[in-house]
Amino acid sequence: MALRKLVAGNWKMNGSIAALAELDAIAAAAAANPGLDVAICPPFTLIAAAAQRQPGLAIGAQDCHTGTSGAHTGDVAAGMIAEAGGKYAIVGHSERRADHGEGDALVRAKAEAAIAAGLVAIVCVGETEAERDAGRAVAVVEGQLDGSVPPAGTGATLVVAYEPVWAIGTGRTPSTADVAEMHAAIRARLSGLLGGEGAKVRILYGGSVKPTNAAELMAVADVDGALVGGASLTAAQFVPIIEGAA
Ligand code: G3H
Repeated sequence: MALRKLVAGNWKMNGSIAALAELDAIAAAAAANPGLDVAICPPFTLIAAAAQRQPGLAIGAQDCHTGTSGAHTGDVAAGMIAEAGGKYAIVGHSERRADHGEGDALVRAKAEAAIAAGLVAIVCVGETEAERDAGRAVAVVEGQLDGSVPPAGTGATLVVAYEPVWAIGTGRTPSTADVAEMHAAIRARLSGLLGGEGAKVRILYGGSVKPTNAAELMAVADVDGALVGGASLTAAQFVPIIEGAA
């Protein structure tokens, strides 16, 4: 079943008020390609300004807390993201798993908090290079899905992003055959975890997606969009990726 594609940009710890000017051409490209969804996830500090600048463009966050409020210095609740105009929350990105020691149970709790606040949770999974070299890539990702996917997730509330850690920011990508193998395995696991909803959850590919490889990657079976890092920072790079996915 072909699902409506989602092309999401993750600005990571980049961006500024001035950089939101990039959203104008990105929003125009999103409007010109109504057959797919487009989102930009800037740092927390820019969510409200981004949503106000381009109300027609979906904005998201790169993380959220598990709770709704309380004594959690430096954290941001999913409800706050929604109030600021956010529609998505990325959770369990490999950089958060590595930099902040986030494990599967915490990622699942964050995804559940995001969904409870009305956001779409984008749950990230992916193997390291050592795990792939050891022939364990699929098993590692299956384990992450088992631990991170909310059991009540649906096609409307949950997105999974497959991001091989070794492909992030490196210019390297898996072969299309390897992407196809992994996305098929993820689809099968989601069906086991979520029943019929598993077929409706979009599975994004992330890791060095560029204008030059987007169309090829997006044509792979069970690739339902992209999670784009560096190439989402400018409209010059991101718009061709949107067009390549359309
Ligand atoms: O969330 C996005 C990914 O980590 C991919 O980043 O496109 O810069 O490789 P990248």
